[in-house]
Formats: sequence, C-alpha cells, structure tokens
Amino acid sequence: MDKRKGPEWHGCEACHGPGKAHVDGGGDKTKIFTFKGSSAQEISARCLGCHEYGAEHSNYARSVHLQNGVGCTDCHDPHHAKETQFLLKASQPALCYYCHLDKKQQFNRPFHHRVNEGLVKCTDCHNQHGGFLTRQLRATATEDTVCLKCHTDKAGPFVFEHETIKIEGCIACHTPHGSSNPRLLKRAQVNLLCLECHAFSADQGGPAATPTFHNQAQKYQACTLCHQSIHGSNSNKFFFTP
Ligand code: HEC
Ligand code: HEC
Ligand code: HEC
Ligand code: HEC
Ligand code: HEC
Ligand code: HEC
Ligand code: HEC
Ligand code: HEC
Ligand code: HEC
Repeated sequence: MDKRKGPEWHGCEACHGPGKAHVDGGGDKTKIFTFKGSSAQEISARCLGCHEYGAEHSNYARSVHLQNGVGCTDCHDPHHAKETQFLLKASQPALCYYCHLDKKQQFNRPFHHRVNEGLVKCTDCHNQHGGFLTRQLRATATEDTVCLKCHTDKAGPFVFEHETIKIEGCIACHTPHGSSNPRLLKRAQVNLLCLECHAFSADQGGPAATPTFHNQAQKYQACTLCHQSIHGSNSNKFFFTP
C-alpha cells in the first residue's frame, strides 16, 4: 500500500464530510467542511473524530500545543505532504525548529543528544500530541522517566538509591538537550553540583552534609572519583562501588 496515506486513501469525505456528493446531487453545501478559516480546535476535532483512540493521540485536547492554537494541520498536510511518511510538512528536527528555533542552538552545544545528526528525535522524549506529564514529556512503558527508555542501566532498582533521582529525576543534575559541560552536567565542576545539595554544614537539615574531612583537600574536589556509582549502588551506601 502507498505509504502516503493521503486524501485518496482517507477518502475525501473522511475530512470534508459528506457534502460533495450531496452538492452534486443538488444537496446541502454547508455540509462540506472547509479547513481554510477554521480554528485549530475545529480542525483538530475533525481529525480526532477518528484519531483520538489510542494512547498516542487521546490527550491532544489537553496538550500544550492545542492550548496554544497549534492544530494537526500545523504539522500534517494531507494534500501537500513533504515527507513520505505520516503526511508531514517537514522531517524532524526541522519541523519542530520552525516554531522552536531557540532549541536549535542547545543541540549545537559541545555536548548534546544527537538530534541535529538524526540519531535521536525530539519525539523520542516528547509527545507532540500531548500527554499527562509536564513539558509534554513521554514516559517509559512502566511510567518511569523517559530517560530510562534508552539509559536502562540507570533504572535500578538499587539497594542504595541516590534518593534525588527518584524525587527530582535526572534533570536534577543533567541538562536534557545540550550543555557546555561533559556528560551534559548542569555545572562545569562536579563538586559545585554536589555541594548545591550536600552543603558543608548540616545545620539546614536536608541531604547529608559533605563530611568536614573533605573540606579543603584537593583530592576531594573530584567527587565522583570516589563516589563512582553516583546513580545508585547495590553494594555501598556511599556509592563507592557498583
Ligand atoms: C486527511 C484529511 C483530508 C482528506 C482525506 C482530504 N482533504 Fe482536502 N483538505 C484537507 C486540509 C487540511 C485542507 C486545508 C489545507 C490545504 O489547503 O492543503 C484541505 C483543503 C482542500 C480544498 C481547499 C478548500 C478548503 O477546504 O480549504 C479542497 C478543494 C479539498 N481539500 C478537496 C479535497 C478532495 C477532493 C479530497 C478527496 C480526494 C480531499 N480534499 C481529501 C484535508 C483533507
Ligand atoms: C507539533 C507537530 C504535530 C502536531 C500538532 C500533530 N502531529 Fe501528528 N505527528 C507529528 C510527527 C512529527 C509524527 C511522526 C512521529 C515519528 O516520526 O515517530 C506524527 C505522527 C502522527 C500519526 C502517525 C503515527 C502515530 O503515532 O499514530 C498520526 C495518525 C498523527 N500524527 C495524527 C495527528 C493528529 C490527528 C493530530 C491532531 C489531533 C496531530 N497528529 C497533530 C507531529 C504532529
Ligand atoms: C474518517 C476517519 C479519519 C479522519 C477524519 C482522519 N483520519 Fe487520518 N487516518 C485514518 C485511518 C483509519 C488511518 C490509518 C490508520 C493509522 O495509520 O492510524 C489514518 C492515517 C493517518 C495518518 C498516518 C499516515 C501514515 O503515513 O501512516 C496521518 C498522519 C493522518 N491520518 C492524519 C490525519 C489528519 C491530520 C486528519 C485531519 C485533517 C485526519 N487524519 C483525519 C482515519 C481518519
Ligand atoms: C533526551 C530527551 C529530549 C529530547 C531528545 C528533546 N527534549 Fe525537549 N525537553 C526534555 C526535557 C526532560 C525537558 C524538561 C526540562 C525541564 O523541565 O527543565 C524538555 C523541555 C523542552 C521544552 C520546554 C522547556 C523549554 O526549554 O522551553 C521544549 C519547548 C522542548 N523541550 C522542545 C524540544 C524540541 C523542539 C526538541 C527537538 C529539537 C527536543 N525538545 C528534544 C527532553 C528532551
Ligand atoms: C506551528 C508551531 C509549532 C510547531 C511546528 C511545533 N511546536 Fe511545540 N509548541 C508550539 C507552541 C506555540 C507551544 C506553546 C508555547 C511554548 O511553550 O513555546 C509549544 C509547546 C511545546 C512543548 C511544551 C513546552 C512547555 O513549556 O510545556 C514541547 C515539549 C514542544 N512544543 C515540542 C515540540 C516538538 C517536539 C515539535 C516537533 C515535532 C514541535 N513542538 C513543533 C508551537 C509549535
Ligand atoms: C532515544 C534514546 C535516548 C533517550 C530517551 C535519552 N537519551 Fe541520553 N543519550 C542517548 C544516546 C544515544 C547517547 C549517546 C550520545 C552520543 O554519542 O551522541 C546519550 C547520551 C547521554 C548522556 C551523555 C553520556 C556521555 O557519556 O557523555 C547523558 C548524561 C544522557 N544521555 C542523559 C539523558 C537524560 C537525562 C535523558 C532524559 C531527559 C536522556 N538521556 C534520554 C540516547 C537517549
Ligand atoms: C545527583 C546527580 C545526578 C543525577 C540525579 C543523575 N546523574 Fe547522570 N551523572 C551524574 C554525574 C556526576 C555524572 C558523571 C560521572 C563521571 O563523570 O564519573 C553522570 C553521568 C551520566 C551518564 C554518562 C556516564 C554513564 O555513567 O553512563 C549518563 C548516561 C547519565 N549520567 C544518565 C543519567 C540518567 C538517565 C539519570 C536519571 C535516571 C541521571 N543520569 C541522573 C550525576 C547525576
Ligand atoms: C539535587 C540534590 C542532590 C545533588 C545535586 C546530589 N545529591 Fe547526593 N543525595 C541527595 C539526597 C536527597 C540524598 C539522600 C538523603 C541523604 O541521605 O543524604 C543523597 C545521598 C547521597 C549520598 C549518601 C549519603 C548517605 O549518608 O547515605 C552520597 C554519598 C551522595 N549523595 C553524594 C553525592 C555526590 C558525590 C554528588 C555529586 C556528584 C551528589 N550527591 C549530588 C541529593 C543530591
Ligand atoms: C578521596 C575519596 C573521596 C572524594 C574525592 C570525595 N569523597 Fe565524599 N566520602 C568519602 C569517604 C571516605 C566518606 C565517608 C564514608 C564513611 O563514613 O564510611 C565520604 C562520605 C560522603 C558523604 C556522606 C556523608 C554522610 O554523613 O552520610 C557525602 C554527602 C559526600 N561524601 C560528598 C562528597 C562530595 C560532595 C564530594 C566532592 C566535593 C566528595 N564527597 C568527594 C570519600 C570521598
């Protein structure tokens, strides 16, 4: 079958309604649905009449996209698709950059998910059709953070969890799109990242304070030299070993 399931495949009436046949037979012209001049809501409702079933599209009504006036035909063009699959106006990431141009430079940073190179897609992490999570993020099949879909070794469960991963998620320490820092870390120096939560003083409560014997010595600056299994460990409470 033609991969471009376009107008002929859908049949004109699927999108434009039963009008045409009726007009030819002297019928009611108002029954033809015209897309020009219709709102994103009206257009999307038309498509969703058939497409709202299934997890992928059923949340479109609540999506940040529709709430900001982005409808199906901002990305899909049944009559003049530029792509051979999914009736798309453009392929990713160009399609997304058309409106989210500010994200392009994030993926050009020295360390980045290879989206511009075509290895990872925006829609691997985001559901452009909406969902339950903030930022239109996807989740894994087991409702975990989307990051674990690919980075399965970080999933655990570990005997000793680094608690913050369970609470704040991977972005407590990583920038998802791109970063000037190796390993997509939020801070240029690992010690500064850790010290944001593990202060030298235990006064404020919160996560364990960095022990005082760490204080000045140079050898304690590269925290992950010793606390190697920073994503969790099955053998050591302080993450010294896997
Ligand atoms: C999957 C949905 C879909 C199907 C099926 C479809 N169309 Fe369209 N049609 C659209 C959209 C969206 C537009 C507006 C965007 C554009 O002009 O390309 C449109 C625009 C048109 C227009 C211009 C007037 C208007 O409504 O804006 C005509 C005429 C038209 N279609 C005829 C047809 C005919 C004839 C068929 C069957 C061969 C057909 N369409 C099948 C979605 C569809
Ligand atoms: C922000 C852009 C965007 C909007 C808005 C959008 N789509 Fe999509 N859609 C895409 C992209 C990109 C793909 C292909 C994803 C991929 O390559 O895996 C896709 C895939 C699809 C597919 C085929 C694959 C699947 O997941 O079933 C259907 C059907 C579809 N969209 C329908 C719709 C409908 C209906 C609407 C409106 C209710 C809509 N889309 C709104 C970008 C969009
Ligand atoms: C009368 C029902 C119906 C309507 C209305 C409808 N579609 Fe479809 N569409 C289907 C079916 C059935 C399929 C094939 C199953 C599938 O791939 O999900 C399909 C497939 C698609 C695909 C996937 C094409 C591919 O290459 O795999 C896209 C994209 C799509 N439709 C977009 C739209 C958009 C955008 C609209 C509104 C302008 C729309 N459809 C309106 C029934 C409909
Ligand atoms: C590796 C997963 C991943 C990929 C790939 C990805 N994103 Fe994101 N994106 C995220 C996460 C996680 C957040 C939430 C960040 C936060 O809340 O601080 C986010 C946030 C966003 C936001 C909202 C926050 C902001 O900075 O404006 C937009 C818009 C966005 N991404 C668009 C895109 C686009 C466009 C692409 C592709 C060019 C893309 N993303 C690719 C994971 C990803
Ligand atoms: C026609 C313009 C348009 C296109 C194309 C588009 N977006 Fe959007 N997107 C918007 C608007 C407008 C918003 C809401 C305002 C904002 O957050 O920037 C939005 C919001 C988002 C958000 C949520 C941001 C938040 O703060 O919650 C994500 C994620 C996102 N888009 C991803 C994508 C991805 C992935 C693609 C490509 C498949 C894409 N967008 C294509 C216009 C677009
Ligand atoms: C679709 C698969 C996929 C998803 C989802 C994904 N990643 Fe990645 N990630 C990769 C790939 C592939 C690489 C390898 C980078 C390269 O060589 O381009 C990578 C690299 C990384 C790196 C850098 C590794 C290094 O050695 O420098 C970090 C950190 C990372 N990802 C964190 C995340 C976070 C956080 C999320 C969730 C927001 C996420 N990833 C979601 C595929 C993914
Ligand atoms: C508490 C901070 C923190 C959190 C939260 C965190 N990471 Fe990391 N991650 C790091 C540090 C620090 C490194 C660099 C380790 C090194 O250089 O020895 C790293 C490295 C990585 C790497 C590259 C090296 C490797 O081990 O593969 C990937 C991939 C990665 N993290 C993914 C993730 C994912 C996925 C999550 C969420 C499940 C996550 N990280 C949560 C701190 C964190
Ligand atoms: C976003 C906040 C946050 C960041 C950043 C962070 N941690 Fe943690 N860490 C926690 C929390 C919360 C716990 C669990 C509570 C506790 O027992 O201290 C924890 C626990 C630990 C423990 C175990 C303490 C114990 O007594 O069981 C060590 C060791 C540790 N972190 C080291 C690090 C290192 C090294 C870094 C930097 C790579 C880092 N952490 C970054 C929040 C953070
Ligand atoms: C040379 C190895 C080494 C380096 C480098 C190192 N640590 Fe430690 N860390 C230790 C040892 C040893 C302990 C104590 C384990 C024990 O009590 O048995 C410890 C314990 C901790 C604890 C747990 C304290 C508690 O009371 O539970 C935290 C938090 C911590 N370190 C944070 C850091 C931070 C942040 C850095 C970087 C600024 C860092 N460590 C660098 C060896 C190191």
